[in-house]
Amino acid sequence: MNVLIISPGYPADMPEFTRGLAEAGAQVVGVGDSGQQTLPEPVRRALAAYVQVPSLWDSAAVIAALRERLGGQRLDRIECLWEPGIMLAAELRAHFGVAGQTLGQAHRFRDKEAMKVALDAAGIRTPRHVAVNSIAQCVEAVHAIGLPVILKPIDGAGSADTYRVASEDELRAVLPLLRHVPRVSVEEFIDGEEFTFDTITIGGEIAYYNVAWYRPRPLIARSNEWISPQVIALRDVDAPRLAGGVRMGFDVIRALEFDTGFTHMEWYRKSDGEVVFGEIGARPPGAHQVEQMQYACDFDVFRAWGEAVTQGRMTTRGERRYNVATIYKRARGVGRITRIEGAAALQQRYGRHVVWNTLLPPGTPRRDWKKTLVSDGFIMLRHPDLAATLDMADAVGTDLQMYAE
Ligand SMILES: Nc1ncnc2c1ncn2[C@@H]1O[C@H](COP(=O)(O)OP(=O)(O)OP(=O)(O)O)[C@@H](O)[C@H]1O
Ligand SMILES: [Mg+2]
Repeated sequence: MNVLIISPGYPADMPEFTRGLAEAGAQVVGVGDSGQQTLPEPVRRALAAYVQVPSLWDSAAVIAALRERLGGQRLDRIECLWEPGIMLAAELRAHFGVAGQTLGQAHRFRDKEAMKVALDAAGIRTPRHVAVNSIAQCVEAVHAIGLPVILKPIDGAGSADTYRVASEDELRAVLPLLRHVPRVSVEEFIDGEEFTFDTITIGGEIAYYNVAWYRPRPLIARSNEWISPQVIALRDVDAPRLAGGVRMGFDVIRALEFDTGFTHMEWYRKSDGEVVFGEIGARPPGAHQVEQMQYACDFDVFRAWGEAVTQGRMTTRGERRYNVATIYKRARGVGRITRIEGAAALQQRYGRHVVWNTLLPPGTPRRDWKKTLVSDGFIMLRHPDLAATLDMADAVGTDLQMYAE
């Protein structure tokens, strides 16, 4: 079985997915824009071949390079787990006659308006929405939907250019900031808690799923530097308060005709219990949330995905035994990390529950917290009991502080 993977070395999780494919028995061919020598060692080991292209965003050139390097070799699957490459993967499938997500299906995962139109048609509750491409249309849509609203790009990621607008004054202030965004989605603002529904799906059937809870909501976390955002992979995915979201997740996979691979959906739960769709990607979540799934169930999620893609079944399985919390930290100050306070005391209290610590050591330059949720590193910890998990996560949020200057 020959599998092409787009961008096998980047971003962070891709080496692991590449390994997962190889361990599931595939001959893996990589295509990417970085030099073979710069690929992480495990990726080079997992790849049977690597095709370097000057740019992944010139699909005609990518096709030409692949034709030349592959000769007559047939491809059985084309995989991409990185949001910007989802359309390229579909284009390559169409060109090389490979089964999997089509251009039309991929479009509904990339274009948030097309996505919601398809879900509306299937009777799934989305926020009221209008796509606009002028200021006049935007103002009209805001009034039609009613304040407060969310304004965001049709194909956004990482909460970039996303604004909550609650008054006419705020609208006037935000409109100029969106001038560079060609198409804006105006949405009813949904007040509530925010969760994920992540799957490995095989031929339209969900073979594994994960539900994670964002604390606080991403838009709030991405607007306030002092917050240590948490993502909690929940052990009890059958809890009644999640049931509506899980049911919606199954309906969405069906409505969008997702075939095989990883998906990452976000959904909201209002205080009255109503469940509302947020968005979905035809790829896994980032910020090491796939590793979080591994620690929740003690199984190799990357390999499980590889099996799903290459064999159409999943033999690698785990048992959901833990809640896993990831707490992302942001240092106070700018420049280089100078010190970390509170770590020793927390280590003593909770150290045995910590599974991963990636806090930047003193001397390292800070990362841009607006660009990466990982920020200045994270603590990942786990516990069978949710209340205990949340207590520990909150303690890491408040009692552990990083400083920079
Ligand atoms: N209609 C809405 N009502 C309430 N909050 C919303 C709405 N749309 C977006 N948000 C907030 O903005 C955040 C970012 O929006 P969304 O998830 O659609 O875009 P994104 O940039 O693709 O996100 P990411 O890449 O971070 O997952 C959401 O997680 C949510 O907190
Ligand atoms: Mg999102």
